[in-house]
Amino acid sequence: MKYLDKITVAKNWLENNYDMSGIDMALVLGSGLGSIAERLEKPIEINFNDIPNFKTGKVKGHNNKLIIGYIQGRKVLILQGRIHFYEGNSMLDVTLPIRVLNMLKIKKLILTNAAGGLTGDVGQLMIIEDHLDLFCQNPLIGENLEEFGERFPDMSEVYSKKAIKLALKIGMGLGVKITKGTYCYLTGPSYETPFDIKVLKTLGVNAVGMSTVPEAIVAKHSGMEILGISCITNLAAGISEKPLNHLEVVETTSKVSNEFIKLLEGVIKEF
Ligand code: HPA
Repeated sequence: MKYLDKITVAKNWLENNYDMSGIDMALVLGSGLGSIAERLEKPIEINFNDIPNFKTGKVKGHNNKLIIGYIQGRKVLILQGRIHFYEGNSMLDVTLPIRVLNMLKIKKLILTNAAGGLTGDVGQLMIIEDHLDLFCQNPLIGENLEEFGERFPDMSEVYSKKAIKLALKIGMGLGVKITKGTYCYLTGPSYETPFDIKVLKTLGVNAVGMSTVPEAIVAKHSGMEILGISCITNLAAGISEKPLNHLEVVETTSKVSNEFIKLLEGVIKEF
């Protein structure tokens, strides 16, 4: 099946089975960051497994659910869990859900992730100002989908300056530990070596992770307004002496869960 047909089939299936109208924005919730979904009013849950052409992930902390509901009076679509490149999926599979959002005419997107910190503290929330995608296989490689955007899309403001300002204002107002910085995508699944991190630090990277950037590139290609939020779940390799593990990542996200939810609720209201 052609890629465009795959997207269309998924979108039609959703529209034929659920009320997909009037959605104000979409959120992608990273590892362990799915709990805001519990705050949704009138939630409708759909398993990724049931949606044609959606892949599912096997990573702990990712639920593989699409949930629609209301927060702060706004209708939101939540992707609770995401599809990763390191699980052997193609970049087209990784970003297919974003294309479905495009076809549903959703214009605003909040991307969240768990990340290793090169600067800052564990438990801090980092608003993504920009990203380094030099290590990311570009998800737009292949035939350009003219329906969505142009062949050579501009990337000078992937993350909306307006949304960054808003998120920082709300975060500071709430007194949460918040900062802004540059996120670097690495494929994973192995964590970085201390030397990787040393090099990235000299480049000015603040946080590293294994997601978000493919989705941001595709979302920007189609003109979405994007806000990116990293939760610094651990210090990156070599910054602390401790070995890295996914359990620590999930534990930190659960500790900051309340602050993260408060920030998101504030942002959703005004984004
Ligand atoms: N590196 C890469 N990805 C991550 C990390 C990290 O230290 N922490 C959470 N996701």
